[in-house]
Amino acid sequence: MDLRSGLRLLRDNWLLIIAATVIAVATAGIVTSNQTPQYSSRVTFFISAWADPEDPASAYQGSLLSEQKVKSYAELLRTRRVMDSVIDDLSLDLSADELTAKVATAVVPDTSLLEATVTDPSPETAQEIARSIGDQFATIVPTLESSSGAGRAAVNVAVVNDAELATVPVSPRPVRNLVLAGIIGLLAGVGLAAARRALDTTIKTAEELERRAGVPTLGTVAADRKMTKTPLIVSDPHGLRAEEIRRIRTNLQFVDVDRPHKVILVSGALGGEGKTTTACNLAIAMAETGKRVILIDADLRKPRAATFLGLPIGAGLTDVLVGATSLDAAEQVWGEEFLTVLSSGSTAPNPSELLGSQHMRDLLDELRETYDIVVVDGPPLLRVADAAATAAACDGVLLVVRHGRTRQDQLRESLESLRNVKAPVLGTVLNFAPAPSHKSYGYGNLNTQRRPLAEVKTNATDVHASR
Ligand SMILES: Nc1ncnc2c1ncn2[C@@H]1O[C@H](COP(=O)(O)OP(=O)(O)OP(=O)(O)O)[C@@H](O)[C@H]1O
Ligand SMILES: [Mg+2]
Repeated sequence: MDLRSGLRLLRDNWLLIIAATVIAVATAGIVTSNQTPQYSSRVTFFISAWADPEDPASAYQGSLLSEQKVKSYAELLRTRRVMDSVIDDLSLDLSADELTAKVATAVVPDTSLLEATVTDPSPETAQEIARSIGDQFATIVPTLESSSGAGRAAVNVAVVNDAELATVPVSPRPVRNLVLAGIIGLLAGVGLAAARRALDTTIKTAEELERRAGVPTLGTVAADRKMTKTPLIVSDPHGLRAEEIRRIRTNLQFVDVDRPHKVILVSGALGGEGKTTTACNLAIAMAETGKRVILIDADLRKPRAATFLGLPIGAGLTDVLVGATSLDAAEQVWGEEFLTVLSSGSTAPNPSELLGSQHMRDLLDELRETYDIVVVDGPPLLRVADAAATAAACDGVLLVVRHGRTRQDQLRESLESLRNVKAPVLGTVLNFAPAPSHKSYGYGNLNTQRRPLAEVKTNATDVHASR
């Protein structure tokens, strides 16, 4: 993982990482506050071996002996014999093992100093036990050493640091615990983020999309929060989004030049990928070049195209298909004859049947004659059969894929369902892509033979205002 990919991992998962850190710190805080404080008291022994003051060799041997002894005394101190003497001395209500668990020994490196540390919830008890250990151990060792038969004990044990009363608990240590928990939480968060990335099979780049779909990625549309309020490119005709849509329009012209594709279905695997937004904007961008364009809202279960354009959902596609109204009467004009729109019409109980009907095919054939381009806003491919039914009647499909949401398998299934109905996929659009660092790509055909977008008067730039 290079530095840039690492930084992207942190940026994309900052919420997860912060959440893991906060949870770890909060857990450590709760555990720490519930822990009983423990106090320690320490006694230090000095181990010395007897030596003849007149003989330097004997002094050296004595020093070696004491250093050797101190290691075994560290073990000896925690034996049952010493513990039992302490229990008797203080009349403790503890077993030898329970007392041993409270005692830790350590040899100060390269010295003959031995430390015994007693830990207990009561600082007074810790001090009493440590003092008693000091007394008992200093008595027991010479007895053991002299019992070896030499008469005089070769080794002497003296308490050099008496046990003191602790005022500050040794545990819990809130600052250390919280800092450690913070570090562990942070690392766990980064680990989770890395695992999430490893398991994430959503489409992330235009190149990946092209490779997996096997058809060209005709454009990328950046995620833009303003889009919820102003979904149409007319709100900013020279902005980045308008450029991106024009690029898709331009690239579409180059797809399969031998076969004209007048009727283009805009679809996608799932809901909320931006099919309607793309279809509306593409229809506007195409009309901008002077072509006669009609936009049909064929998402009969969730019709939104008319709403995006600020038009009423009156009589529309379903009414024309069942012969309840004529095409002329159902067509609506958007933006002073800039674009024709056929809304979804009355709610129908059988969308798939209607969209896959011969009437639908006849209607599209009729529109093919009247218009240069027919843009059909379709439903998602993986939820219901409507989209595949519509695709079969269209010349080609433009597949909208949502960056970081549409998975590879969903893309595969969508393509398969289109292949099953023999609908050619013209290309894909990667929507909700990360905004490019540069403001403009420097492309975009602003050829506005009919009328520039800025001049198109519409009351539909704000979806919410139109409701
Ligand atoms: N590039 C984008 N950046 C930010 N928001 C977007 C973008 N594209 C679409 N949106 C928003 O996402 C929402 C869903 O978009 P849209 O209705 O076009 O999706 P859809 O695929 O047609 O959904 P459905 O399947 O429900 O019909 C809308 O609020 C739209 O404004
Ligand atoms: Mg839609």
